[in-house]
Amino acid sequence: MLDKIERLPVRLLGTGHAVPSRVMTNNDFAKYLDTSDDWIVERTGIRERRIATDGETTAPLATSAGRAALVEAGIDPKEVDLVICGTVTPEVPFPATACFVHRDLGCVNAAAFDISAACSGFLYSLITGSKFLQGGTWKTALIIGVDCMSRVSDYQDRGSCILFGDGAGAVLIRRASLSDGKGILHHRMYADGKGVEMLYVPAGGTRRPANEQTVAAREHYLRMNGREIYKFAVSRMQEIIEQTLCEAGVRPEQVDMVIPHQSNLRIIESARQRIGWPKEKMLINIERYGNTSAGSIGIGLDECRKDGRVKEGSLILLVAFGAGLTWASALWQL
Ligand code: UT7
Repeated sequence: MLDKIERLPVRLLGTGHAVPSRVMTNNDFAKYLDTSDDWIVERTGIRERRIATDGETTAPLATSAGRAALVEAGIDPKEVDLVICGTVTPEVPFPATACFVHRDLGCVNAAAFDISAACSGFLYSLITGSKFLQGGTWKTALIIGVDCMSRVSDYQDRGSCILFGDGAGAVLIRRASLSDGKGILHHRMYADGKGVEMLYVPAGGTRRPANEQTVAAREHYLRMNGREIYKFAVSRMQEIIEQTLCEAGVRPEQVDMVIPHQSNLRIIESARQRIGWPKEKMLINIERYGNTSAGSIGIGLDECRKDGRVKEGSLILLVAFGAGLTWASALWQL
């Protein structure tokens, strides 16, 4: 329920991203699976994705993205009060991946925890972190969306494995004063637990701990009902975009850049066409990275800032949906 529009006064100090060096193309799948480059490009927009090798897993990716954000901002890791990682593919089952980042970056004064919201993980983390800053206790937060989906993808399942890739995106944010007009003007976060088994990993948790049977049944890999997720994503993406703009009193043409979770080009395009945004206002990099889950929005934001499409003063809309089911938005005046 929405009681009021609540601005979260945060300033963006720096961004960073990291992806593994190994590229896996559609043709690499076509060599051993009944699929083709044409099918994958036409149905998803993906041409290649990055796949982690040893030493490039969730914590190292998150750490490099976080380090890049700190370096760009010129902020000492000791000044960070909070490290949050949005991830569903943690470095180890516990402790939190954020604690690895804490150690490896030397954020010695920070609290650290993970948020599990799948592809909405970056936005859930950004909004949670911003709320902590708004609360007034803490000033500076490092927010990282990161996933190594290759580690939970079933490379025998052509209906899902072709979608995913690995990567991390980070933002460093600081509490701002309400009077400077910057910050998250409006946000929305949703979940629908009825969809828990639409996209999930059946084993490896407490319900079905790892054993020979779970391994033989490939239950440590994700299971996805692609068609149902597709339908959910198309309708929810459009709804949340319209709702966020409408409630904030912002017209679509006032938004400088939309950075959507990169799930499937057709899903993103259907939202763009419905709202009537020109192509250049919608970030698309899915052809190079596939769906990096919680990584995608932070990667996109960093790329847009580095190539000048997003700068100080830009009004950006971030929007994501994912397993859970979860979906979220943030309208951010930079
Ligand atoms: O961040 C959230 C994560 N998940 C998503 O965003 C997934 C959302 N869903 C999707 O992106 C799409 O549903 C997929 C890309 C997964 C599948 O595309 P689709 O157009 O919905 O295909 P479909 O599942 O309706 O399957 C159409 C046909 C089927 O063959 P039949 O039954 O018509 O003979 C599939 O077996 O395409 C077949 N197919 C493939 N063919 C070649 C499924 N995967 C492949 C493949 N290569 N990789």
